[in-house]
Amino acid sequence: MKLFNVCLFSLLLSISSAATFSPKVGVNYGTLGNNLPKPTKSVELIKSLKAGRVKLYSPDPEILTALGGTNLQVSIMVPNEIISNISTNQKMANDWIKTNLVAYPHTLIRYVLVGNEILSFMTEADKKIWHGLVPAMRKIQYALKVNGIRKVKVGTTLAMDVLESSFPPSNGTFRSDIADTVMKPMLQFLSNTKSFLFIDCYPYFAWSQSYKTISLDYALFNGGVTYKDPGSGLTYTNLLDQMLDSVHFAMKKLGYPDIRIWIAETGWPNGGDIDQIGANVYNAATYNRNLVQKLNAKPLVGTPAMPGVVLPTFIFALFNENQKGGPGTERHWGQFYPNGSTVYPIDLTGKTLVSSYPPLPKPDNNEPYKGKIWCVVASDANMTQLADAVTYACGQGKGTCAAIQPKGNCYNPNSLVSHASYAFSSYFSQMKSQGGTCYFNGLAVQTAKDPSSGKCKYPSVTLP
Ligand SMILES: *[C@@H]1O[C@H](CO)[C@@H](O)[C@H](O)[C@H]1NC(C)=O
Ligand SMILES: *[C@@H]1O[C@H](CO)[C@@H](O)[C@H](O)[C@H]1NC(C)=O
Ligand SMILES: *[C@@H]1O[C@H](CO)[C@@H](O)[C@H](O)[C@H]1NC(C)=O
Ligand SMILES: *[C@@H]1O[C@H](CO)[C@@H](O)[C@H](O)[C@H]1NC(C)=O
Repeated sequence: MKLFNVCLFSLLLSISSAATFSPKVGVNYGTLGNNLPKPTKSVELIKSLKAGRVKLYSPDPEILTALGGTNLQVSIMVPNEIISNISTNQKMANDWIKTNLVAYPHTLIRYVLVGNEILSFMTEADKKIWHGLVPAMRKIQYALKVNGIRKVKVGTTLAMDVLESSFPPSNGTFRSDIADTVMKPMLQFLSNTKSFLFIDCYPYFAWSQSYKTISLDYALFNGGVTYKDPGSGLTYTNLLDQMLDSVHFAMKKLGYPDIRIWIAETGWPNGGDIDQIGANVYNAATYNRNLVQKLNAKPLVGTPAMPGVVLPTFIFALFNENQKGGPGTERHWGQFYPNGSTVYPIDLTGKTLVSSYPPLPKPDNNEPYKGKIWCVVASDANMTQLADAVTYACGQGKGTCAAIQPKGNCYNPNSLVSHASYAFSSYFSQMKSQGGTCYFNGLAVQTAKDPSSGKCKYPSVTLP
């Protein structure tokens, strides 16, 4: 009888935890754009995706207020800059929780992430922060307790470069500079608090760096390709599972095989620069739709090394964000354009069959681009900033801007825009091999259309 009671009790427990903890795919609400909708409108857009959760990169008061009264579960983030201070100052942790969580009683804040990918920042100053990370997580956890809050989990986001080896997945190993000093105490903390390891996991990056050896179908969950890990004997049908399992095996190596994984960011860019392979609407829609179908499958599938587990996930990102630096893909991860139109329809509950969406524009960059590219002024460039960018571009290489001097072949038309396009192309062609990019804070874009005319020849970059 007693045994029966125990069994019934644990059965009830597992039913109730399954009922309250569902995949509920969420979205990352990044705000690095100067043209994004207001928070109230953005919250409507999040709901229109049928998202269950939303992750914020800062505890923005206007956004937290706009999320009030919705049933969206919210994740807020302690900025990297204050991790060190919080790690040694319980009062600061208490105050932070009061100001950014307790102050929003109508907002379902359920996760506090202490910092964003801090273990991927490598300066000496950043490394000092690493050592404060787990102490800061503990102080935030204690601050929740002090404030009488029980339902909130504490974590931190990691990027895949916390692993020094991720292939084959059974060989997954944390970097030696963090394994014992940071990861072990962190895993102990996550285990004690039944929290999650939050990992940013992008098959897109792995594939685009190795598109010659990794099949695109494998990265997009299209099936038809499998990989057998010789170490574990497990068979993989997609790249995401393989990457997640490498994290699982790394945790297992440190003695924590049971910590649940939370995909804090994943996604696929819907556009990018001409020299960036596979970044297009077709692949982005395919990746994200197949992903949400897999995450919401019943029964749950998990991964080969973690069969049947829930994989809670935040897709990156809500909007295309025009103020993110780096290559063009960085500004093209959105489900929405800044004007609020969807880039492609998606239902994050996974209930809409992938085959039932309207047809998508066929991809035209799934093979590497071959030919010349130039770097010209973007159509929405801020004219006030253009002159400084030209000065910068002309000051980097040798004779970069000789042709736009008064006697040069490209002096006419004598306009700022035309001189800037020449200067950007010239800079790009000289500096690309040394890491120079065609970006200039959003003032420049790549083009495959030769801007040269008459005697004025614009320098170009030839790919591959
Ligand atoms: C963090 O601590 C340093 C020195 O301990 C102090 O100078 C700084 O103002 C603190 N920063 C914040 C955000 O409180
Ligand atoms: C396994 O990982 C180690 C580093 O942790 C690496 O040196 C080794 O090459 C990896 N093994 C395979 C088969 O890739
Ligand atoms: C919104 O922006 C996108 C991308 O610039 C554009 O294709 C679309 O037509 C715009 N939609 C509306 C309603 O203006
Ligand atoms: C253009 O740049 C200037 C200088 O940075 C800035 O003051 C201005 O607000 C910008 N204009 C627009 C429309 O963004």
